[in-house]
Amino acid sequence: MSEERCIIRPFKLEDKESVVELWKICRLVRPWNNPEKDIERKLSVQSEMFLVLEIHGSIIGSVMAAYDGHRGVINYLAVHPGYQKKGYGKILMTHVEQELLKKGCPKINLLVRSDNLNVKRFYKGLHYEEQDDVKVFGKRLIPD
Ligand SMILES: CC(C)(COP(=O)(O)OP(=O)(O)OC[C@H]1O[C@@H](n2cnc3c(N)ncnc32)[C@H](O)[C@@H]1OP(=O)(O)O)[C@@H](O)C(=O)NCCC(=O)NCCS
Repeated sequence: MSEERCIIRPFKLEDKESVVELWKICRLVRPWNNPEKDIERKLSVQSEMFLVLEIHGSIIGSVMAAYDGHRGVINYLAVHPGYQKKGYGKILMTHVEQELLKKGCPKINLLVRSDNLNVKRFYKGLHYEEQDDVKVFGKRLIPD
């Protein structure tokens, strides 16, 4: 675990540019995702579950979560490459799991892109199980 002092706090509007930049550096932004719109939407639904991790005043991590009354979801988990493998990803996940638990969430589902399979070890280390019996279906309702 890292020795450096970090703060986890809800996203604020003035964080937008830093967070979008972080997502781009972490390769979480894809042509079909509009990060600014994703942020705008999140601010209207359980915005308290959109968290950033700050070290010495700089945002180096993020996570976006929600509980729908049945399952919890986690998106946009990111740690700046310069700070990866120091335990910050684990700190963010543990924190957001506690927040979901406080809401009564019994189970978390999360998606790992098929070209990002090396994060499988990260999630397995946090006791997430790969579910071979499930296929994810999606339907877009708004173009971006
Ligand atoms: C996934 C990510 C958030 C992990 O953050 P991190 O701060 O590096 O993770 P931690 O340092 O807390 O790692 C915790 C454990 O997972 C392991 N781990 C982390 N990233 C790993 C990777 N890419 N491959 C294999 N193991 C990894 C660490 O070695 C560590 O193991 P240990 O507890 O046995 O020492 C970070 O790599 C990242 O931002 N990646 C790009 C964005 C991304 O893919 N997000 C996930 C979308 S599904």
